[in-house]
Amino acid sequence: WNATSLSVVVVGASGDLAKKKIFPALFALFYEGLLPPEFHVFGFARSKLTDAEFRDVIASTLSCRISAREKCQEKQEEFLRRCFYSPGNYDSAVSFQELNRRMGEVEAASGKQRANRMFFLSIPPNVFIAAAGGAADHCSTKTGWTRVIVEKPFGRDSASSAALGRGLAAHLREDQIYRIDHYLGKELIENLTVLRFSNLVFEPLWSRQYIRNVQIVFSEDFGTEGRGGYFDQYGIMRDVIQNHLLQILALFAMEPPVSLAAEDIRNEKVKVLRSMRAVQLDDTVLGQYRSRRHGGRTLPGYLDDKTVPPGSLTPTFAACAMFINNARWDGVPFLLKAGKALHTRRAEIRVQFRHVPGNLYKHKFGPDLDSATNELVIRIQPKEAIYLKVNNKVPGLGLRLDTTRLDLQYQSAFNQKELPDAYERLLLDVVNGDKRLFIRADELEAAWELFTPLLHEIESRKIAPELYPYGSRGPVGAHYLAAKYNVRWGDLANDEPDE
Ligand code: BG6
Repeated sequence: WNATSLSVVVVGASGDLAKKKIFPALFALFYEGLLPPEFHVFGFARSKLTDAEFRDVIASTLSCRISAREKCQEKQEEFLRRCFYSPGNYDSAVSFQELNRRMGEVEAASGKQRANRMFFLSIPPNVFIAAAGGAADHCSTKTGWTRVIVEKPFGRDSASSAALGRGLAAHLREDQIYRIDHYLGKELIENLTVLRFSNLVFEPLWSRQYIRNVQIVFSEDFGTEGRGGYFDQYGIMRDVIQNHLLQILALFAMEPPVSLAAEDIRNEKVKVLRSMRAVQLDDTVLGQYRSRRHGGRTLPGYLDDKTVPPGSLTPTFAACAMFINNARWDGVPFLLKAGKALHTRRAEIRVQFRHVPGNLYKHKFGPDLDSATNELVIRIQPKEAIYLKVNNKVPGLGLRLDTTRLDLQYQSAFNQKELPDAYERLLLDVVNGDKRLFIRADELEAAWELFTPLLHEIESRKIAPELYPYGSRGPVGAHYLAAKYNVRWGDLANDEPDE
């Protein structure tokens, strides 16, 4: 790669995602020396900024908060010198031609014979295809590869997603398109396959024979906070469940792939999705947070967000039961739950195991045998951890049993203050052409098929979400849904992360 320069173009450079995630991730990779020596960043957006102003914007997004980063300030300055800006409209050929000219200039000055180009489309869906076309048609490199990263929303349903796919395919080959789902870049999700396939003690248990149910839970303790304009058009099902949680489910439930190659893994994931039954309305609970007085102040309801249309029925909470109709998982409920403005911020996978047949200690657990079943918890965030709840004798005379944990806490076990952000891993994968953690077109299609009929039904029948107070545990309906399948949600609150 020493003979090749790399340009990363952030289309939509003044947006939230660019500032919060993309620039800091690029800097982290640069800092770690993981990018080619001749590496440049180009910002492209409508605002008329100069290079200097753009560098100020980026500087405000970077921090040297990671204490182990030596010479961080110096590195930041070096990074900023590699940043350039080209203003323009997303649907203007001239703007992209100008961007191409500037990139050519900078690349030529680097003295490398070959130039690779990577575009991150961090822009609203209505300008998506125009920008992808502009980038592909006017800014493709002639001497290396051109790759384009796109992020959800990939449409609102099967039909609009397919239309978007056709729009992209008109300008780019499938191997150039990287569909990001940033949950796949999270450490514990990346570890999921390692846990399963490199430990003898887990994989043999990974089926309906031993697992009673699987819960995949996402909870945020804040509301839409000004993002309501975007959020209201999508709702929590499209924002979190149809992508992040379903991707986790697919990785969790897939058959062992032939190898770790991207296509082998994605083949298995798509098989899981295609074996699933579309979500049913009576297996779904919808909620929307309302305002609440708490500690002398009023926490705003979803409808109080000025960017949300009055009377909106968009769910900010949803729970659903899903099933995989294959030999491994037949009849095992997968319960997915996601909500905003709840009591805690947490993302977890909880695997509840079956009862021990003929348990000799049954009498010790009283009538509530459920509390004595093993549970494996994979905490994705915060405070990454993997723990297994096991029954154990309380030390001492007599025979008292209690449930305790075999506990792997990442912070103490790996002595690492901060794990790399998901975007760092994913951007590096794009540079290396590794598609393992990106969504293939057929996966996306299969994912939409599971949710489209339900989403259409909810919208056409104007189904009202159950209101829940800001900061609560969400609608009670979620408990009835779980009870319908003989499941009790793992208790996030009584199971706090260790300090
Ligand atoms: C995004 C959703 O994809 O994921 C947001 O659009 C959500 O609504 C976010 O807040 C959560 O990501 P993370 O990495 O902060 O858990």
